[in-house]
Amino acid sequence: MTKRASFVCLFLALTWFGYRISAQKDPKVTEEVLHRPTPMPDRIILTWSDDPTTTQSVTWRTSLSVKDGVAEIAEAEDGPLFVKKARRHNAATERYDSDINQSHYHSLTFRDLKPETLYTYRVGDGFNWSEWNQFRTASKDAKPLTFLYVGDAQNDLFSMWSRLVRMGYSNAPRAQFFVHAGDLINNADKDYQWGEWHQAAGWINHSMVAFPTPGNHEYGGKRLNRNWRPQFTLPGNGVKGLEETNYYVDVQGVRMVALNSNERQAEQAAWLDQVLATNSNKWTILTFHHPILSTARNRDNKALREAWQPVIDKYAVDLVMTGHDHTYGRSNLMTGTSGREGKAGTVYVVSVSGPKQYELTPQKWMQRAAEDTQLFQVVHIDGNKLTFEARTATGALYDAFELEKQRGKANKLTNRTPKTPENRRKPAATASGGL
Ligand SMILES: [Fe+2]
Repeated sequence: MTKRASFVCLFLALTWFGYRISAQKDPKVTEEVLHRPTPMPDRIILTWSDDPTTTQSVTWRTSLSVKDGVAEIAEAEDGPLFVKKARRHNAATERYDSDINQSHYHSLTFRDLKPETLYTYRVGDGFNWSEWNQFRTASKDAKPLTFLYVGDAQNDLFSMWSRLVRMGYSNAPRAQFFVHAGDLINNADKDYQWGEWHQAAGWINHSMVAFPTPGNHEYGGKRLNRNWRPQFTLPGNGVKGLEETNYYVDVQGVRMVALNSNERQAEQAAWLDQVLATNSNKWTILTFHHPILSTARNRDNKALREAWQPVIDKYAVDLVMTGHDHTYGRSNLMTGTSGREGKAGTVYVVSVSGPKQYELTPQKWMQRAAEDTQLFQVVHIDGNKLTFEARTATGALYDAFELEKQRGKANKLTNRTPKTPENRRKPAATASGGL
């Protein structure tokens, strides 16, 4: 081989090896890299821990290098000059060591805010800042109120829950809060799942208050996972020891109650009795994870129903919003632990927002049911009227009803269920009755 031919062969060989190397796929990015905390704030989330007319809590995450979190807040203005009026506040900082990283969670509650006022805020360390986000404080009056509610997100949060939560936001962008009825993630001790939950909701959590209650998947065995309290700043007005998982907030004529259906049900029944005995709000709405009326026969929560439904009946709670069963089921007005449908009582809802779906058992109490459907719910309250809409991940209306307060009488329920077929795995069979 001539010297020239050898050179050409070497050149071709190197070109081929170079091509092979460049054609190799990048390795999968690890969870450690994808969810690594940095000095830049992430997992920013608004919650209420006190009076929503004058306070607003915010929580965020950074790397351990950020020892002192700070936030700045000003009344929002049309232009950028609000920045000069921003006041700085110091956060409380808590360390959390997860399965894949170590981080600091920072939280603070803005206080002495004006009711019904748009504020802008940012969080950071004084050098690395979030964007300026906006929120509006609640009114002191029972003005019209809208909120979103979803059942279990739980699985494939980044890939498949994101479209649902964003469609929910698109349908109710001025909702004041977003109820998550438990099982936000599948494995509470897997930090990548919480990372995905925050990524999926993205900046919605920066500007719309989250109202979460834990499901069985936020528990590792019998204990609430250690990361619940660092990452959510919630009221401590529940049963002692269940703070930030069992609580209530009064907002614009509605008493919103979160119960923790995972433990100490009898104590929470007594607490609920007290909380509702002193309730002067026109509307009372409960959320918790395990349903009072299960959508599947083999998933009945008899002990929970016997503990809580007598209190729910005693105070004629307007609406109970749950999850856990990975299907949709919505009742008419119901009373009694054996599930009596009638002209008085409470509307019970089971819903699911994530892609994990189960089979349901048709039952008489179901005014509307669904399988294999991701749903969000928009609840709007205006004076004596409550409007409820369940919409699918495509935004299609799937179920609706209205409740109307009547002086000295039970609520009037009007079904507005669309005439579209039910989303079911098998053709709807005749309701078999009972629980
Ligand atoms: Fe569950």
